[in-house]
Amino acid sequence: MLAIYPGSFDPITLGHLDVIERGCRLFEKVVVAVLRNPNKAPLFTVAERMEQIRRATTHLTNVEVDSFDGLTVTYAKMRQAKVLLRGLRVLSDFEMELQMAHTNKTLSDDVETIFLATSNEHSFLSSSLVKEIAKFGGPIDHLVPPSVLPDIYRCYAKTPPEPVLTTDSTQLLELHKTVSPREKV
Ligand code: PNS
Repeated sequence: MLAIYPGSFDPITLGHLDVIERGCRLFEKVVVAVLRNPNKAPLFTVAERMEQIRRATTHLTNVEVDSFDGLTVTYAKMRQAKVLLRGLRVLSDFEMELQMAHTNKTLSDDVETIFLATSNEHSFLSSSLVKEIAKFGGPIDHLVPPSVLPDIYRCYAKTPPEPVLTTDSTQLLELHKTVSPREKV
């Protein structure tokens, strides 16, 4: 059975990779589908994100990387896929994910959303958090696949370095505010 794993992947994190690897053990094929979203201003182009995902998944034989626009269920139907794969990290993900799954069900009754509980060590992790840390000059090598690291560092090397994040509570609070609670794994 074919599963579609849709998302923004800006950039792919170890949390995404965990879902892909586990999905690959459950399904014959996992299509990682990058949404072309005109409403978002991503750090990486769709082509760059697809290339990053490809590089991070070379050890997996049953992964395909693709992009799509419009509705996820329309793409799933076009691919003749019956399963949408999503990762669930924390309670705050649940509400939005459930809403999406229910909405998708009303749009296409024969496409099911299957959630994988994100591994504990990745339950805090999001692409936004990675970008935020990198922007402030912090280490991200424990958060993203090694092959993606140079891309992120290259991006932020272009802009003057921001002050390094400290444990000062005001800065942490600001960081917390800027990271969306439902940014996905
Ligand atoms: O990685 P993300 O940004 O959390 O992924 C969200 C995504 C791409 C799965 C979601 O925004 C989506 O499916 N967008 C496509 C438009 C769509 O199908 N909308 C209806 C379902 S709510």
